[in-house]
Amino acid sequence: MDLNPALLSDDAEADEVTLSITVVDFDGVEHQLQALEGWRVMEVIRDWGLPIKAECGGACACGTCHVHVDEAWLDRLIPASAEEEDQLDTASGVAFNSRLSCQILMRPDLDGLRVSLAPGSEP
Ligand code: FES
Repeated sequence: MDLNPALLSDDAEADEVTLSITVVDFDGVEHQLQALEGWRVMEVIRDWGLPIKAECGGACACGTCHVHVDEAWLDRLIPASAEEEDQLDTASGVAFNSRLSCQILMRPDLDGLRVSLAPGSEP
């Protein structure tokens, strides 16, 4: 697992639960990233420096944080809102497992979540 010094050295976050996600980039390379409860998956991806456009910064207004969620994890996610569905309607490469990563908040039961960067999220 990659280590993020910012996560490890910030005393203010010391009591927060450290989780992890696996992100598959556009080259098919897997990255296991640390995440904190309450963080948006888009923020985790962006803050670790992986390429994701996320143009609106998480406001569910652009669709450029598109990911494909590993099928095994789909049932654990809170269903997409009508707003998210509307944004996905404008995205390219949409599949049955498409989600906007800014709308997935990390929580303990999502520890180990696996997603792939999807069309439209390239910076
Ligand atoms: S960052 Fe814009 S919809 Fe997710």
